[in-house]
Amino acid sequence: MLTFNYYGHACFRLDDGKYKLLFDPFLTGNPQASIKPDDIETDYIFVTHAHADHVGDGYDILKRTGATAVGIPEITDFGGENVKSINMNLGGTLQLPFGFARMVQALHSAGIAGGVACGYVIGIGGKVIYFAGDTALFGDMKFIGERDQIDYAILPIGGHYTMDIVDAAKAVEILGAKNVIPVHYNTWDIIKQNPEEFKALVKNAKVHIVKPGGTLNLDA
Ligand code: NI
Ligand code: MN
Repeated sequence: MLTFNYYGHACFRLDDGKYKLLFDPFLTGNPQASIKPDDIETDYIFVTHAHADHVGDGYDILKRTGATAVGIPEITDFGGENVKSINMNLGGTLQLPFGFARMVQALHSAGIAGGVACGYVIGIGGKVIYFAGDTALFGDMKFIGERDQIDYAILPIGGHYTMDIVDAAKAVEILGAKNVIPVHYNTWDIIKQNPEEFKALVKNAKVHIVKPGGTLNLDA
């Protein structure tokens, strides 16, 4: 079974029953956090960019779990030589024990000198999952959806720093995603959104509103 565990804001984990992949592990200081950084188990940590609400507790979790960090070199090098990391960059695809990971563009600042923000296309458990990271809407999402049929798109909807519900609904259309999970909203008032309004805007895809601490079976 392929499971999506949502920990609040843009932090979630994919778990195929054998491998666990944690994304943007911002828990300390995250008002939505549904788990403590000391309680999380993972094999990989994917980071989309270096803003504090994405890198979060990554280094501490890497040190404790021995997990492997995946990201651009400017970010994965933050752990020094004490943690396992795989550097990659935009357009690259890694074949990993659980499946594949492709790094794709995101329209956002990097939060670190010389870096870029990114998203990921992940193949795991027979599904393709696109995590946009923090991004504005961009037309080349079309090519992401053309290369792989996206089963689940995990998109920010909070506005202010990222797409809002109108642009995120357009992103779903451009991507041709079958399902969508909104994230990066209601953590603070500045990114307040009503996910039900987002749901009403989305055509031709199923919207799954998962509360922090909630899980979703992606096999269904
Ligand atoms: Ni950001
Ligand atoms: Mn953010």
